[in-house]
Amino acid sequence: MQCFVIEGGKKLSGEIRISGAKNSALPIIAASLLSDKRVELENTPDLVDIRTMIELVKQLGTEVTFHRNTLTLHTPKIKRVDAPYDIVRKMRASYYVLGALIARAKKAKVSMPGGCAIGPRPIDLHIKGLDVLGADVEIKDGFINARARKLKGAAVDLQGPKGTSVGATINTMFAAARASGITTITPAACEPEVVDVADFLNAMGCTISGQGTHTITIRGHDYVRAVRYRIIPDRIESGTFAVAAVITRGKITMRGCNPAHMTSVLDKLGEIGAKVNRSVSKLTISSSRTLRPANIFVAPYPGFPTDMQAQLMALLSIVPGTGTIKETIFPNRFMQAVELMRMGADITIEGDSAVINGVKRLSGARVMASDLRASAALVLAGLVAKGKTTVSRIYHLDRGYDRFERKLGKLGARIKRVNE
Ligand code: UD1
Repeated sequence: MQCFVIEGGKKLSGEIRISGAKNSALPIIAASLLSDKRVELENTPDLVDIRTMIELVKQLGTEVTFHRNTLTLHTPKIKRVDAPYDIVRKMRASYYVLGALIARAKKAKVSMPGGCAIGPRPIDLHIKGLDVLGADVEIKDGFINARARKLKGAAVDLQGPKGTSVGATINTMFAAARASGITTITPAACEPEVVDVADFLNAMGCTISGQGTHTITIRGHDYVRAVRYRIIPDRIESGTFAVAAVITRGKITMRGCNPAHMTSVLDKLGEIGAKVNRSVSKLTISSSRTLRPANIFVAPYPGFPTDMQAQLMALLSIVPGTGTIKETIFPNRFMQAVELMRMGADITIEGDSAVINGVKRLSGARVMASDLRASAALVLAGLVAKGKTTVSRIYHLDRGYDRFERKLGKLGARIKRVNE
């Protein structure tokens, strides 16, 4: 296994380019199964999760080439309709083939994804979406088996106990794109990645409107065409580098990003004391001398993203005063806290809330990554800690950050990837 060894205390400065969004690219790769025409995706990030999704669609019949972030996918025929446990357990987002396969092949068999480090993650809303459109869905022997003689447009209500779902909105759009008649999804998730998937489907010839609002309307039909499409920039990667600038009291410029997708994060960093300079696709973040604590309330887009919560916890750990985080989407998602505490952070967790009393300094330690964004938080803490920090289990990080240590190194960080 590999780990990162970080010598903390270096101000980061310079310029980097932001990669394409993992959470757009994954469903869009699955969406290519909807079509027998060629799909070309520019700005595809080179990540372990992307490679896993490529492996999965290849097994289902897709011909793939991946060169310099341009991914070409072509599925003249679906050869198989099952997503095995071995792949789904590596990456939950494999469930995106469920909606795509039922749309194109009218049947799918996908292993149940199960929970993960950030807590239980039900998929009842995904199943509900397919069911309302006319699929028979059965869970048997750890698999979701779905079949449909005909899919028919309908009104799909995706209200769950925690609000709506990004994944279920996307899976339902896939099935509805090839159903007869009109489907409405309410409440639909309005994350930028959902909009990107809808825009991609439209570029492919589908007829979708309302993306970015809580009501998405899909007029189903069979027509599709070849498409070349550019994936949006990764707002969570840019957010993580923005925190890196503030936590190290440095100055980082990001090109190829979309600050319009990051308003809640940039507003919060501004409140903490970051200086933010943004244009359409460029963002410069630097830190002011005095930082102030903040209260963070995690909520669906356009609220503060759950995927940035761990990184902000690392930052608040060294900001004088008391900050709080309330996590409303994945209430158990505080795995990073105990590891940050091993570095000297003063954090108390109660249920879905964290109270962070800023300490003067963190000290380097051996810490263990538990999930993707928790890993990023530990690297950020290591960048500012006194002495050496070793972050183990960085395979979590490789799932979602494209050349992370190369980009950090370019900004002046002392970070090395080492075989344990
Ligand atoms: C996606 C993102 C993930 C992000 C999350 C929330 C991908 C690959 N992953 O995950 O990075 O943290 O959105 O922005 O894009 N829920 C149900 N029933 C369901 C589905 C979800 O109750 O059938 C609940 C979940 O447990 C959670 C909430 O709804 O509490 C939101 O989850 P959801 O939006 O589905 O997250 P994902 O699509 O899995």
